[in-house]
Amino acid sequence: MSALNKIARTMVSDRRGILAADESIGTMSARLEQVGVKASAENRRVYRELIVTTPQLAESISGVILADETFHQKLTDGRTFPQYLDDIGILAGIKVDTGAKPLAGSPSEKITEGLDGLRERVADYVKGGATFAKWRAVINIGPDAPSDRAVHANVHALARYAGLCQEGGLVPIVEPEVLMDGDHSLARCQEVSAAVLEVLFEELDLMRVQLDGIVLKPNMVVAGSGSGERPSVEEVAEATVETLRATVPSAVPGIAFLSGGQRPELATQHLGAMQKLGPLPWELTFSFGRALVGPALETWRGDDNNWTAAQQALSERAVANFAAR
Ligand code: 13P
Repeated sequence: MSALNKIARTMVSDRRGILAADESIGTMSARLEQVGVKASAENRRVYRELIVTTPQLAESISGVILADETFHQKLTDGRTFPQYLDDIGILAGIKVDTGAKPLAGSPSEKITEGLDGLRERVADYVKGGATFAKWRAVINIGPDAPSDRAVHANVHALARYAGLCQEGGLVPIVEPEVLMDGDHSLARCQEVSAAVLEVLFEELDLMRVQLDGIVLKPNMVVAGSGSGERPSVEEVAEATVETLRATVPSAVPGIAFLSGGQRPELATQHLGAMQKLGPLPWELTFSFGRALVGPALETWRGDDNNWTAAQQALSERAVANFAAR
């Protein structure tokens, strides 16, 4: 078993999942302000400390994805976040993309940037204690979207990122997110998700990415948030598993879903329903951001008196997703 395969399997095994706490400075600042907390480097640090020091987190969480800012910050006790996570038996991950920008020639579509200097950044993150990385590509559905050019540019960047991570010793989380925004049907989301995954795996093969040393992080197949369609939990689970079976090679050790704006409880139900459709060739787990930490942030609101209750809210979501597996 290669070192990369061992890390990837640790990330997705034992019914645990991955916690995405890697919101960019801009996104995290906006989320703090929404709950009445001043956006500052110190407040972003305190909030991330609340998350990672949640009691018994390691029982349901295998890895935490950090943002660059947090990666270089310290907990109150002086340990860096990666050092602390390692001490409690959780793998430290790092978001290495630098964000999605308008795609030239298709301004309504986006291309994720961050390849320049990535080899050197990967080496620094490995020295700082990272074992895995994340890169998110964003694909939107609209009357003329996604275009072939947007899909191709994004899977190409994902494959080059994945190759550079593996070369440097990090397991890449490969995240092609087909957004829920829009009035499209579940069938259209399925068609686009399948098309994106198909070209993604062609590109990963072209770039010689070792499939047993990645974790795939896709969207679930759901109806557009503005469509008025309300598919059942079973319909979402079946469409998602059908799409993945058709496109994801069995060499991939695990698939860890993003939550994408779904209500936390619904994302958990979808995850649970998918486990019943086995046997499956890969582990199916969660790598939620909002669906794990949203209730905790709402509970905390920057008030120390709410610290324990906020950690309890995160713990409930983490344990519910663990149980759903
Ligand atoms: P959500 O679960 O909030 O979609 O976030 C997951 C993630 O890491 C997006 O890149």
